[in-house]
Formats: sequence, structure tokens, C-alpha cells
Amino acid sequence: MENFTYCNPTKIIFGKNTIAQLDELIEPEAKILFLYGFGSIKKNGVYQQAMKALKNRKVIEFANIEPNPTYETCIKAIELGRKEKIDFILAVGGGSVLDASKFIAAGIKYKDDDLWQIVTSRGSVVTSAIPIGTVLTLPATGSEMNRWSVMSKSSTKEKLSFGSEHTYPKFSILDPETTYSLDKKQIRNGIVDTFVHAVEQYATIDLNTPLQDRYAISILQTLVELAPSLMSDKKDYDAYASFMWTATQAQNGLLGCGVRLDWSTHGIGHELTAFFGLAHAETLAIVLPALWKYELDNKCKKLAKIARQVFNVTEGDEKQQANTAIMKTSAFFNSIQMPTTLAHYNIKKADIQQVVDRFAERGSSIGENQDIDAKAVEKILKMCL
Ligand code: NZQ
Ligand code: ZN
Repeated sequence: MENFTYCNPTKIIFGKNTIAQLDELIEPEAKILFLYGFGSIKKNGVYQQAMKALKNRKVIEFANIEPNPTYETCIKAIELGRKEKIDFILAVGGGSVLDASKFIAAGIKYKDDDLWQIVTSRGSVVTSAIPIGTVLTLPATGSEMNRWSVMSKSSTKEKLSFGSEHTYPKFSILDPETTYSLDKKQIRNGIVDTFVHAVEQYATIDLNTPLQDRYAISILQTLVELAPSLMSDKKDYDAYASFMWTATQAQNGLLGCGVRLDWSTHGIGHELTAFFGLAHAETLAIVLPALWKYELDNKCKKLAKIARQVFNVTEGDEKQQANTAIMKTSAFFNSIQMPTTLAHYNIKKADIQQVVDRFAERGSSIGENQDIDAKAVEKILKMCL
């Protein structure tokens, strides 16, 4: 097991009718910047619940934060927040609104004019941020209980993450009933994102970490078990509640303690979103099986365990089981209507060159063994066609 430091300061308020607690959770005199997306929260009643709880408060709204939130939009929110001298940011929505709130919170306090430095420094230049609270409506990213934010810059087609100890939410409200209005595509995306968060912290080098391994495996088992209910038309509260908590657990830093992390599927996936506009989870479902095939020898032991412990495979030797894990994972994604090829999105061989060029420009390698360079990305993406 490797050394680690773990501290997660986010308070979680979980369960039915918890949005009503907003008033108690935010400092009485705070002037609040209320961030949200394109209006899903008005259709499902979350906006109304939040506004009711905040009826005696000073609230300024900023809407239309897009999926894969952009620097360009967040700059406008930063200007508004500075002008209004806000003291608190409340982010209500999915991972995109929550991620945007972290950039805005750090950006309002940032002294230099070039706010994109917050991202290019991966957050190291952040020394303070406006406090953030969140109401999560989409289980997927774990943004509600982590420091990370993924920002896109439209002008340069970049998508990069940053994080700081100052950008953890102070609290997050997780009411599973807010997720009933998600459509099947959004649910499917959330399942796949959560699955890939768990495996990018699990299917790496074996460092003899039985507790961490079991945490990750239990997340995968829970997702496979819940998927049919979540993808059906019934609104089973317990299934939605377990899904919401599973997604939070997969990406709140706990799984990554003491183990070697991969994140190359995410790294390549972010570029597919930046260049071709695919949803985050759609990119992961394409890249993961190909990347596992490419890294089969390095990941063999852990992949075989996924086959045995998640998909109940008993036949074959370790290598055969590892291959079966890749096949079963793709089949699981397909079973929840998630495509696993670039062809599905009409992305062709010639299109992938720009992604490869970007990795070549950066010159760095990714993956738990730092062995995925531009040439490897090219091979992996060709396997995704
Ligand atoms: O904009 P509105 O109208 O709110 O609609 C959203 C959006 O169109 C809608 N939605 C959210 N909750 C809903 C709902 N519709 C109906 N009912 C509800 N309850 O869903 C759409 C997608 O929302 P979005 O926030 O973009 O999805 P998600 O939560 O998957 O977030 C994706 C972003 O998070 C980043 C991704 O890269 C991407 O930019 N990630 C952040 C991470 C982190 N902070 O740790 C880690 C992840 O790996 C990921 O990279
Ligand atoms: Zn993700």
C-alpha cells in the first residue's frame, strides 16, 4: 500500500425532503449566488423547493450553465459575483453546475486577470475561494463530495481538470427524489461514469490493498445489481438512493487511498468531448474496453478479479478471465443502451488524428505506469473505431 493523506471536509445531508434544510446550512447574513443549468430544476420542482427554503435570504441567480461547463460562461458568473459582492455560492444541478461553482468560487477571489491559470495550474494557484454548498440532482461525477472541477474552454477546444482544498463543497444535499426526472440516457451516463471512476482506481497494479479492492468491487457489484431497476420505468426509491450514494462514494477520494491510480480513460475521454462534443460517460464507454485490451498484461490480475467477483465468471485461466472481464463490461454498457464504439457517433479514423496531436503536443504520458503516450493513444483510439 502506498502512503496517502486523506481529508474530506464535505458534510452530506442525504434523504427525502432535505432541501428544506438549506436555510439552516447557510450563514444567516450571506448574500447567495444561486447557480443552475438550463432549467431541469424548474421542471422537477427542485428550484421551487430551494427558493422556498431561502425565501428570507438575499439570492442572486445565474442560470444557463451548460453541460461540460465553459470558461466563457463562468467568467460572466465571476463578474456578477464580484459586482454583487456575494458571500456564498449555491450550486443546484448535475456535475457540470457543481464543477462550474468551484471555478467561479476560486475565480471570484483570484487576483490575476488570467483566470484560466486556475485550470492550467491544476488548482495550485488557488489560495482561497468563496464557500460552496450544493444540491445534487444527477448521480455520476462525485463532484458533490470532492475538490475536482472539469472546465472546458470553447475558444481552444480544451477540457481540463483542476482541484484545490478550497473547492470542496461545505455541504451537499442529496435527495434521491430529485433524480426521478432523469431520462434513461442520463441514468445510463451516471452508471457508466460511476463504474469507470471505480475501475480507474482499482484495475491498476496490485499493491496488496484488500480493503480498497473490496470497496471498489462493491461499487461495481452494486451498479450491476441496480442497473435493471434504474433503467426500468418504476421509480424505486431505494434503488435511486443506493445509486446516488454509490456515485458519491466512487469519486470522493476514499477509493484512491493507498492505491495506484490510472485516469487515462478519463484523460482520453475528455479530449473526445472537447473535439466531438460527446457526453462525458459516452467517451468513457468507448475508451475503457480498448484501453484495457491495450493494457491487458499490466492489468491482468485485477481484470480477472472483476470477471470473477463482479460478473461471476468461474471458467478459464487468469488471462482468459481478464479478456472475459473486458467483454462482460462492454456487454454491461450495451445492456444499458450505452454504445461502445466511435463509429456509433460517426467518428472516423481521420478524425482521431487531432486527438493524437494534442497528446503529442503535451508530450506527457498517462496511466498508472505512465506508458500511454501519443502513439499509444493512437493505437487505443484505432481500437475504438
Ligand atoms: O442544465 P439542466 O437543465 O440542469 O439539465 C442537465 C443537463 O442537461 C440535466 N439534468 C441534471 N439533473 C437533472 C437533469 N435533467 C432532469 N432531471 C434531473 N434531476 O442533465 C444534463 C447533464 O448534466 P451534467 O451536469 O452535465 O451531467 P454530469 O453530472 O454527468 O456532469 C458532467 C460533467 O462533470 C465532469 C464531466 O467531465 C462533465 O463536464 N466530471 C466531473 C468530475 C468531478 N468533479 O470530479 C469527475 C467526472 O469524471 C467528470 O469528468
Ligand atoms: Zn468521470
